[in-house]
Amino acid sequence: MGSRMKTIRISTQGLLGLLVAVVLSGCSKTEHDQPLTDADLNNPNKVLGRPLPGLTAEELRKFRVGEMLFKKEFTPEEGLGPMFNGKSCWECHGQPGPPGGEGRDISSTSILNYAKRDPVSPKSKKPLKEVIRGLTKVDVDFFLTKGGPSLQRKTITTEFPNRGTFQDQLDFEQVPMDAELQSNRHSPPIYGDGLIDSIPDGEFTAQGIKEMVSDPAVAGRAAVAVDRYTEASRSARFGWKDQHVNLFNFTTGAMNIELGLTTYGAHTENSSEPLGDNPEFLRKINQAGQPNDKGKILLALTWYQTLLAPPPRGPITPQVTAGEKVFEKLDCAFCHRPSWTSASKVMVADPDSKLPLIDAVEVAALENKTFYPYSDFLLHDMGLELADGIPQEGAKGGEWRTTPLWGLRFKKFLMHDGRTRDIHTAILMHGGQAQSSADRYKSSSQEDKDALLAFLKSL
Ligand code: HEC
Ligand code: HEC
Repeated sequence: MGSRMKTIRISTQGLLGLLVAVVLSGCSKTEHDQPLTDADLNNPNKVLGRPLPGLTAEELRKFRVGEMLFKKEFTPEEGLGPMFNGKSCWECHGQPGPPGGEGRDISSTSILNYAKRDPVSPKSKKPLKEVIRGLTKVDVDFFLTKGGPSLQRKTITTEFPNRGTFQDQLDFEQVPMDAELQSNRHSPPIYGDGLIDSIPDGEFTAQGIKEMVSDPAVAGRAAVAVDRYTEASRSARFGWKDQHVNLFNFTTGAMNIELGLTTYGAHTENSSEPLGDNPEFLRKINQAGQPNDKGKILLALTWYQTLLAPPPRGPITPQVTAGEKVFEKLDCAFCHRPSWTSASKVMVADPDSKLPLIDAVEVAALENKTFYPYSDFLLHDMGLELADGIPQEGAKGGEWRTTPLWGLRFKKFLMHDGRTRDIHTAILMHGGQAQSSADRYKSSSQEDKDALLAFLKSL
């Protein structure tokens, strides 16, 4: 999917303009810089969807533009479809309220990935259960000629029946009968992702080495993926399987696969037949031209997500403090690493760039910040029950990125497919490399279990 793009040139021209703006605006205080009361802390409308503290007026202005686009419902005339999963980003990343949160439910906002073992792989000759955890990309056929590996559930003719006649009906995508590997992915929250984006690559490698030295049986693997713009291999950190290196790449894919918007960097519609079996109808409807977005929307969306703040901790009680110790004692913190620090210099692609050139500007609010995502961002084998068999970039069939736990108190659906809503059950579902930690939880005293849950509910 998508054509390889020319390398983007990053110039420093924009930097000067930004510095001038900082001086002029004098880092003005915004409503979001006001302290929250204890009562506010459990109110999602007060703590989700906020910008990082300390933004300049100019940075905040661009944040608001991106927020509008994140919430905006696109239309077929603007390029939505022909196949898609949602009309806006907010539709799947907007719970419980402000943009940037998790998906509404599993049936309409999760994404189904599918594949089958490639008959030429020796692993296709064995019972699936024996090999599923070790499947890598070379073992698997992703149905790339049939619009795979992500299902698009909707088309512009199913969702906008007034735009054409019944005869204009487009073929929609179906899961092939022989797709033996299927994986439902819940939409995760996006808040705080700009800070994660600002962790230098080497830190993930260092974390992998640290874990290997301390306990090889539990140690995660630092994931590597290719940046579609620079074609460089970089530390991957986003997605349930660590399949993307940064928000710019992820957003390019999300616009293309989830909304059907072609954009700077992804010029081809994500369907087996780019214009379906009724190109005339589609050309008439899509007045946005190709690509639908020359880059403005992509840059604004990326900027918005990059500056979206993680929620602050909930109220801290003595039981919460005791639970934090249990979290360490049970080795949860081995994978769910509490804190990271962002790079000392962070450049972000500027939505005001004179496209097709992209300028990057320095964002001080992202620099040298210590933050608390509770994840090592590494890949861990989580056992047979959780294995979906779908390898992505460096991740094998049984591996998952340690899920960040910040904002856990607002989440409804847990684990990659939202298979439980209950934190206690989610812990018991930890297998593979996390089995010993889950066993220790199981044999803990009731007091310790209660404290641990109180701690997790404060994140
Ligand atoms: C139909 C639902 C849906 C829509 C619409 C959607 N997403 Fe997502 N999004 C998901 C799911 C599901 C995942 C997890 C995918 C995975 O990792 O397998 C995800 C993951 C992400 C991530 C990675 C987050 C992380 O921390 O790992 C980002 C960033 C993201 N989406 C941005 C967007 C943007 C921007 C848009 C709009 C252009 C968008 N999404 C539209 C469902 C959706
Ligand atoms: C070996 C690494 C590892 C250890 C140890 C570990 N986890 Fe996890 N945890 C993960 C991974 C990986 C996932 C994602 C699994 C999935 O979605 O299928 C996860 C998911 C979770 C989730 C669900 C989060 C969400 O939003 O879906 C919770 C809650 C959680 N872990 C808590 C804990 C607690 C509490 C402990 C200690 C008893 C613990 N974990 C130990 C790696 C680990």
